[in-house]
Amino acid sequence: MASDATTRRPLDGRRILLGITGSIAAYKAAVLCRLLKTAGADVRVVMTPLAKQFITPLTMATLSKNPILVEFFDPENGAWNSHVALGEWADCYLIAPATANTLAKMATGVADNLLLTTYLSARCPVVVAPAMDLDMYAHEATQQNLRTLAARGVRIVEPEEGELASGLQGKGRMAEPDRIAAFVGGLLDEKKKTLAGKRLIVTAGATIEAIDPVRFISNHSSGKMGYAIAGELAARGAAVTLVTGRTSLPTPAGVERVDVLSAAEMYEAAVGAFDASDGAVMCAAVADYTPAHVSDTKIKKGDGGLTIELRRTRDIAAELGARKGDRVLVGFALETDDEEAHAEAKLTKKNFDFIVLNSLRDPGAGFRGDTNKVTLIDRAGREELPLMSKREVAARIADKLETILK
Ligand code: CTP
Repeated sequence: MASDATTRRPLDGRRILLGITGSIAAYKAAVLCRLLKTAGADVRVVMTPLAKQFITPLTMATLSKNPILVEFFDPENGAWNSHVALGEWADCYLIAPATANTLAKMATGVADNLLLTTYLSARCPVVVAPAMDLDMYAHEATQQNLRTLAARGVRIVEPEEGELASGLQGKGRMAEPDRIAAFVGGLLDEKKKTLAGKRLIVTAGATIEAIDPVRFISNHSSGKMGYAIAGELAARGAAVTLVTGRTSLPTPAGVERVDVLSAAEMYEAAVGAFDASDGAVMCAAVADYTPAHVSDTKIKKGDGGLTIELRRTRDIAAELGARKGDRVLVGFALETDDEEAHAEAKLTKKNFDFIVLNSLRDPGAGFRGDTNKVTLIDRAGREELPLMSKREVAARIADKLETILK
């Protein structure tokens, strides 16, 4: 496709150095390379010696339309592959897949192959997409290395849950190429960093209220909408703290995640972060009631019925609304009847700037699915949006939030 003003592609003119390490996920690097090329990027590929066992340099050279770099110098003619020049050439150094071994070496500064020396010389943003078995990923050594790298500014595209090459199920599978390419696109597209310098909180998912050590009260919220919003705000440059109930969703790239269980824990985390923030999006499905007494031991069944006394939880959104000042505050309402009247009442009561109304009566809206149909309501009026993906809904919410923050 020609690149002119009308057909501009997202990565036109961008130089991406793609680093491939020795993981079975290296096969996905071929698709990733194609996506980056199709988006307009100039791609050069550096591989570790082991990566060549998983995907051939010929494949990657053909896709990237550039020779592949593996060794410090060409064994045939002695030509030197300058890691310094490579690091200077790139607008972004993307290492995908990144093995536990390479991450550990990056964290400690080991420089025993071209991919690593280039990392140490790179001045551009560095992105890693880890890929490994679930136990290797969960191991404290790997987690610590990831924290070290993140603290040094390396951006991490978290792996996903699913079936791994070992046959085990769990977290460790490299993120899908489209997610990685989108992340790199967002990182490089400074024009879209419309929320740079802003600090935002997103609450997401369901809370869990313990009855005893075994049972709890919760709800059907999947967290997908909140995660999509957190990802969208981060992609626009905001520093996002995602206060989340238990989900199996991957943390959106670039987001700081705080895991909580109960409404009380979510209250502490959200209220604690609010003062230093520019606002919050309250997407979590927070329990309104929690058991008045939590049994230390498992409650045994008896012959008759069982009554559990519940007490009200604290309303996080209302608390933030009370101390809002000129921060922005966005609420959600999930209703089944008299939807707009209920949502408008919550808008006023909790001091939201606007509220996102979902009706469970709309097909394709609400829990678990990947689509949503919402109405945005503020004091000036309503905007009913058509059925769209949760990602698109997130973008529309971010657009509205931006206009308020300005
Ligand atoms: N919310 C919150 N803390 C709570 C309860 C709700 O932050 N303890 C937030 C939700 O994240 C959402 C909004 O408040 O943004 C929902 O309002 P709410 O009146 O609590 O809705 P419901 O719980 O559905 O209330 P009701 O049962 O009265 O419909």
